[in-house]
Amino acid sequence: MDSTVTLEQIVAWAKRRGFIFQTSTIYGGLANNYDYGPYGATLKNNIRNHWWNTFVEKRNDVVGLDGAIITHPTVWEASGHTSSFSDPLVEDTVNHKRYRADHVIEAWANKKGEEVNTEAMDLNAMSKFISDNKILSEDGNALSDAREFNLLFETHIGAVEAEKDTAYLRGETAQSIFVNYKNILDTMRVRIPFGIAQIGKAFRNEITKGQFIFRTIEFEQMEIEYFIHPEADWDSIMQQWLEDMKQFYLDLGADSDNVRFREHDKEELSHYSKRTYDPEFKFDFGWKEIAGLAYRTDFDLSQHAKFSSKKLEYRDPQTNEVYVPHVVEPSFGLTRAVLVALYSAYKEEDLGDGKSRVVMKFPAHIAPVKAAIFPLQKDDKLVAKAEELFNELNSEFQCEFDNAGNIGKMYRRQDEIGTPFCITVDYDTLEKGTVTIRDRDTMEQETISIDEVKAYILEKI
Ligand code: GAP
Repeated sequence: MDSTVTLEQIVAWAKRRGFIFQTSTIYGGLANNYDYGPYGATLKNNIRNHWWNTFVEKRNDVVGLDGAIITHPTVWEASGHTSSFSDPLVEDTVNHKRYRADHVIEAWANKKGEEVNTEAMDLNAMSKFISDNKILSEDGNALSDAREFNLLFETHIGAVEAEKDTAYLRGETAQSIFVNYKNILDTMRVRIPFGIAQIGKAFRNEITKGQFIFRTIEFEQMEIEYFIHPEADWDSIMQQWLEDMKQFYLDLGADSDNVRFREHDKEELSHYSKRTYDPEFKFDFGWKEIAGLAYRTDFDLSQHAKFSSKKLEYRDPQTNEVYVPHVVEPSFGLTRAVLVALYSAYKEEDLGDGKSRVVMKFPAHIAPVKAAIFPLQKDDKLVAKAEELFNELNSEFQCEFDNAGNIGKMYRRQDEIGTPFCITVDYDTLEKGTVTIRDRDTMEQETISIDEVKAYILEKI
């Protein structure tokens, strides 16, 4: 019964088990935004920490940054986002509901079993395709011609109406890295090639629906701008990053066969990119982008130098050569990485005798709870001993104490949230100092000395 998981199953499970809820549910929810519950927040933190550890702490050529969400508005003019950061939009001509033109075309083609490449279509081609094929809105009305819709979220700075100044919530974390390039060069002992990494929120006014945390209006990115010499072998540098990016998703539990790379064709390249690869994951709704790797050349530093009139160059300390560095950018979506971890972990298993279980087989290092501790019965002595063990272990790693009494049910609950180890305190614990430790994946139980439990789990996580 080990089936292919569907988005529907993930959404229902995530809500039932306190991982992910739609934002503002008591007010009927807000489309395309989600809140992370207790386990979801911990899972997301564990993935974030693994990324930071892998790409910042363990490398000596990458430093970290935590930039502001609201920046000087000129940042987005210089970067090209105010003019070129848009999606093609069509509108229902009767009720004015808005849709992504490319999504409308793809949904129509899917239904017909036809292949269309919307990436290669401009606005005119999309409008023509929609009218030629008489594609209607979900409510059966005619659709308008396609037009560009800017994705940046506007906000206003200043308390008094007259002093209002338009600013933007950042559309990507990358720009605060570029505008801090000089600060980092002046204060840190960095030498080209080096990277600046950042994890943080980004915002896009996406017209979309029903994609859960895959596409939201508020999300988190984990990005590195890797500065290189303009004549460096950028192709080899990109190939190395592709390997490192893939390894990151394997570390989250993804099966190697479910991760691939797709190179953008010319029409699809962003305004700043000379070459882009998208790492993609095989979801039940298709192969979809989970990250990007782009060769941004010197586009961003040159633009910011032009708009700010500041020199954003690099002087080689050995040769004294002065140049504007080029950039290779590995960009990961944290919230999409969470979705990859959920899809990779979710299993429904047949246990025989008409019994089954849902089990989240998270790699132990990202599992929100590492161990659950149960007393075999509600006997004061067993409860006290189990609490003692819980307090000892919980000071080292995230644990749960459960005293509900039905061991089978307690196992099922921990399986569903992906806890790798369950430890039962029984009468042998009181008499012989041993506990039973059960492995989530094999369901096998081992009896070990209570003194060895901490080391046993620490070794595995
Ligand atoms: N700095 C480059 C950049 O922002 P992007 O391809 O637009 O490139 C990079 O975004 C990654 O950010 C994507 O591969 C995806 O993982 C994530 N991302 C982008 N838009 C998103 C959205 N609306 N919801 C969730 N994640 C998103």
